[in-house]
Amino acid sequence: NEIRIFSPATVANVSCGFDVLGFCLDSVGDEMVIRKTDKKGIYITKIEGFDLPYEAELNVAGVSALAMYEAAKPDCGFEIEIYKNIKPGSGIGSSAASAVGSVFGMNELLGRPYNKIQLTEFAIKGEAVASKCEHADNLAPALFGGFTLVKSISPVEILQIPTPENLYATIIHPQIEIKTSESRAILPKEVPLQNAITQWANVGSLIHSLHTSDYELLKSSLHDVIVEPYRSQLIPHFNEVKKAALQNGALGTGISGSGPSIFSLCKGLESAINVKDAIEKIYSKTGIEFDIHVSKINT
Ligand code: HSE
Repeated sequence: NEIRIFSPATVANVSCGFDVLGFCLDSVGDEMVIRKTDKKGIYITKIEGFDLPYEAELNVAGVSALAMYEAAKPDCGFEIEIYKNIKPGSGIGSSAASAVGSVFGMNELLGRPYNKIQLTEFAIKGEAVASKCEHADNLAPALFGGFTLVKSISPVEILQIPTPENLYATIIHPQIEIKTSESRAILPKEVPLQNAITQWANVGSLIHSLHTSDYELLKSSLHDVIVEPYRSQLIPHFNEVKKAALQNGALGTGISGSGPSIFSLCKGLESAINVKDAIEKIYSKTGIEFDIHVSKINT
């Protein structure tokens, strides 16, 4: 009647794949307890870690739970406890972890009536509360693991992309908050054709590099000519971090989700630690508080 789950952090966009690509981290995640109750309805009974609304209709985990509850019409209710480790607004899929966790847990307790695509459909409703827009690039890797490509959100179509064996991510999180809704609002509505051509060439070759474990191709594909030029201005010292990471062996560096976290992909743990040390050196001079860690891709 009760389940405790780990809902992982994720990195969305992965440079060139705005709103479609993402990967799952194994280092950070929220814990949630979902409990069946006789009393009908969805009740958030505990939130630890960060100050978030208890009203189910206002809470990301609550909204996705309600979407599933209204579809399933079960003969019971659910209590949700949220132990948040992923800071909201940090850029590593905090809202997605909450949105996915509640529906995943409820589905288990109901005997798995829904598949992961259907769970994504419910979770999109919760994610939209946070970003004011429906997207599934954090939800998909949290649910499926590894790298995912969201081919479409209506209907939901998700592709699982293989993860090369030796791939690690270094994530730095400067302690400032950037709201996804705000960092979406600054983006241009139209893109020049030449930039679009560069971007879709990079997305295609990035996917190919993941299928073939071609680290050189992965490196030459991790570029974003459309979104990063705008959003990087919101992140203090982004260009210095990127330069230091690339000089110290990162395959690529970009904004994690809508920021302020910055991810670097690296070949091997040793390289990821080198990159971490180099970034740490740069950022500790800025006076801005931050945390930084290395994670294996969670498949
Ligand atoms: N694709 C989304 C964005 C991810 O970059 O706005 C953030 O939730």
